[in-house]
Amino acid sequence: MCDLCEPLISEIDKKVLEPSCGNGNFLVEILDRKLQKTKKNKYKILIALSNIYGVDIAQDNLEEARVRMKNIVLDFLAGEETPASFLMAMDAILKANICYGNMLTGRKKINLINWIPDGNGGFELEKWNFADIEKLREGVKQTNVEDLPKVANELLHPPLKLPDKPKPKSKKKVEKQATLF
Ligand SMILES: C[S@@+](CC[C@H](N)C(=O)[O-])C[C@H]1O[C@@H](n2cnc3c(N)ncnc32)[C@H](O)[C@@H]1O
Repeated sequence: MCDLCEPLISEIDKKVLEPSCGNGNFLVEILDRKLQKTKKNKYKILIALSNIYGVDIAQDNLEEARVRMKNIVLDFLAGEETPASFLMAMDAILKANICYGNMLTGRKKINLINWIPDGNGGFELEKWNFADIEKLREGVKQTNVEDLPKVANELLHPPLKLPDKPKPKSKKKVEKQATLF
């Protein structure tokens, strides 16, 4: 299944959300693939981690998923120095991104963080929720291949919105005007 989502899921800056992540079977595989692109650079590792999100309604599953993901990173960095600031950043990202929520009935209550790398070894943090994410897809159109030219053309050249036709004056008003002369 992960192969079907390649090459995107291996890119460290591409976001992935597992809507019922359980104890993280997919999350650890996705993380492992992204880590291969980091050359063990710790900033890149944090970027990779920050772009993996998981939601579940079972708290024990969430905790297990976080621990497994952390261990994947630590195994990957085996023998390397892991400063306390790096470990704390990793914990904070995992706590925020692998989060409690009901994806069927409670999506609006799920708050997430969009971690935007600032290019200087830090991040800009933007509060995100599902309403924001769904808004990003407002302009997205789905089409089959046959209708693709038509749909693409409409997206590039939206049909002109003509002003509404003026409404004919009501008969009563016309009669009233007539009596004035
Ligand atoms: C069969 S497990 C699959 C876990 C993971 N996706 C995997 O493939 O290993 C199903 C998971 O869905 C979670 N789940 C069930 N209903 C959910 C809901 N409405 N919102 C979020 N998670 C839910 C359960 O807690 C459970 O962890």
